[in-house]
Amino acid sequence: MRIAFLGKGGAGKTTTSAGFIRYLANKHPFVLAIDADVNAHLKGALHLGKLEGQEYELGEIRNDIIEYLKGERTDLGERPMVGTTPPSLKSRFVKVSPDDTLINKYSQKAGNVYLLTVGTYKEADVGGACYHVKLTGLQSFFHHLLDGPNDLVVADTTAGTDNVATSLSFAYDMNVFVVEPTMKSVKVYLDFLSVAPHLADRTYVIANKVDGEGDAQFIAKHVTADRILGLVPQSKHLKRFEQGKKEALNDFMTEQQPVFEKVFQTWTSKNRDWNGYLTRLKDTHTKVCRDWLDDYFGGVKLDENLDNEFSYKQVIEKSLKELALV
Ligand SMILES: Nc1ncnc2c1ncn2[C@@H]1O[C@H](COP(=O)(O)OP(=O)(O)OP(=O)(O)O)[C@@H](O)[C@H]1O
Ligand SMILES: [Mg+2]
Repeated sequence: MRIAFLGKGGAGKTTTSAGFIRYLANKHPFVLAIDADVNAHLKGALHLGKLEGQEYELGEIRNDIIEYLKGERTDLGERPMVGTTPPSLKSRFVKVSPDDTLINKYSQKAGNVYLLTVGTYKEADVGGACYHVKLTGLQSFFHHLLDGPNDLVVADTTAGTDNVATSLSFAYDMNVFVVEPTMKSVKVYLDFLSVAPHLADRTYVIANKVDGEGDAQFIAKHVTADRILGLVPQSKHLKRFEQGKKEALNDFMTEQQPVFEKVFQTWTSKNRDWNGYLTRLKDTHTKVCRDWLDDYFGGVKLDENLDNEFSYKQVIEKSLKELALV
């Protein structure tokens, strides 16, 4: 299962993602954390001590990732595989496990939390790079991820409604908007709903930095009650922690806990519709090919004659059979 934290700049996405990851890591054997923000701050916010392993940026090594996921597929011929290319039966897939080749190679580790980072702009990117290009490795990663109901994947994302423009918009089973009790912050959530109404049933709100009854009423006025997962107070504990009082982090976690329990319950009650996912991926791929990718690659049709036999169900069943044989 995959969850993303979204919202306006500074609303508390990274703080909330990091808190939720720590909450999960206390109760579950493995958590995959993903920093999908161009301003990569998740590692620092996790407060899990020194992370082991080399630091890779998925944005930089996107071609290696795509090459790996391509596996033995032949349907593409000479045509390139891109972030939205749907898998084939001969692709390589990823499992949410510390033993997975791709995850193990590219993540940094702190106990049972493994962290993948998309990474920031480089000097060479200035004026020339679109962040969406950096996200192609992550898009392909998600579209080849065979995660089941007990697998926990948590992403901290870029501010704003940007992810609607990529195939990441439907990659998550649940989107949680972190919303401050201000009109600007609420508007980012409402804008998302208006451009992506098809994602409304998987999109929720955590009201953050709520200071008193007036703030709670403001949120209740603008967000439908069944979408609100909870309220996190404007935390003096977090402030104390940021002033150097290490022990205050536990107090802040206690403040967040009831909300995280609700997030976890809601998230894990979702069922992935794999066929719906594949249809959406194919449609998105065709759209981006027609809009610009085909032209960009010299007029080839990147979405034609792809492996029609492919379904996620088949590869999941195959991998379950392989596990039973081990
Ligand atoms: N519940 C809270 N109480 C008090 N301060 C908070 C709370 N949540 C977050 N903050 C503070 O708000 C600031 C912004 O938080 P954070 O970096 O998590 O936001 P963000 O949405 O990830 O920002 P960006 O858009 O820059 O990625 C930080 O200084 C953080 O400590
Ligand atoms: Mg952030």
